[in-house]
Amino acid sequence: MTTDARLRILCLETTCDETAAAVITDSLEVLGSVVASQDSLHEKFGGVVPEIASRAHLENILPVIDETIRRSGITLNELDAIAVANMPGLAGSLLVGLVAAKTLALALQKPLIAVNHLQAHIYACKVAFKEEIFPCVGLIVSGGHTSLYRCESAIDFTFLGGTIDDAAGETFDKVAAMLGLPYPGGPSIQRAATGGNPKAFAFPRSLLHEERLAFSFSGLKTAVRYHLFGQGKVLFADAPAERTLTESEIADVAASFQEAAVDCLVGKSVQALLRTGLTTLCVGGGVAANARFRQKMEAASQDKGFRLFIAPLALCTDNAVMGAIAIERYRAGLFEPLDLDVAPGLLR
Ligand code: KG4
Ligand code: ZN
Repeated sequence: MTTDARLRILCLETTCDETAAAVITDSLEVLGSVVASQDSLHEKFGGVVPEIASRAHLENILPVIDETIRRSGITLNELDAIAVANMPGLAGSLLVGLVAAKTLALALQKPLIAVNHLQAHIYACKVAFKEEIFPCVGLIVSGGHTSLYRCESAIDFTFLGGTIDDAAGETFDKVAAMLGLPYPGGPSIQRAATGGNPKAFAFPRSLLHEERLAFSFSGLKTAVRYHLFGQGKVLFADAPAERTLTESEIADVAASFQEAAVDCLVGKSVQALLRTGLTTLCVGGGVAANARFRQKMEAASQDKGFRLFIAPLALCTDNAVMGAIAIERYRAGLFEPLDLDVAPGLLR
């Protein structure tokens, strides 16, 4: 502990394509936070290229840590622990953060804490609202994940169900590419949908009326594709528009697609609350930045009477502030040895 009896943890986040660091105290005060986005590097490929992502992390990680420490107004020696998101994510990207964290932990002789990126997305709600969020149902809706968890506490998460094919964010990105809209697709779809009619086309809401807690977005993606280009037509990434779409057609497709995706996310979350008997829902991940999603979730929370926490925009997309969940692991004495490895695969 430092002299003023306040814990200060450096959290690192390099699971996908953002290089981020933050220093957080045990009262969840953010002393400094930096996010270096790689969007411009991946834009022309229409998605994250793992090799490019890990190389960019290598270039960014030390400047990002330096700037975070500078903004925090402390020295490295005043840190109490080093935390790093080591699961799940892209293997090469995860390794950059993990090696940086281990090196700092060893050089500074500070404890090392492992952070599960998905759990951290839920914990962003606690950091943002400074309210007790546990026990709750946690919904993670990002580019790589669409999952529901029963979250008893910050260190006790149980998988309830998730997507059986594409993640919600990935689907936004792919549909945006079909419409010729720029990457990342989520914000582009949201913008395009603004003037569109959400009821223009009845796209499928897969699994919505089934009992099991699971999502499926590949049917929705294919339905949009068939609607646009006809059945059986092959689409190439460098020639997304085989026919010219009018602005109002794009708006209607974007709005109708967005409505179908959001209905599935809201509907299954409500089902998870009913199934578990829990009365709090916490949402994290990039898709939670979507305005229509937030609107329909708010309406459901009023209608069904559950407490709803959705992280603010800056804490929805990847950041290191949500790594504050490491404070709870510190308190529980959950430290890692220096041979800690990355766990890229989907975790339950
Ligand atoms: O959580 P995140 O930053 O990274 C991952 O861990 O995947 O999520 C990125 C995803 C992308 O697929 C992006 O298109 C989506 O979040 N996204 C959105 C919006 N903003 C970002 N999707 C829908 N509407 C948005 N406004
Ligand atoms: Zn994420």
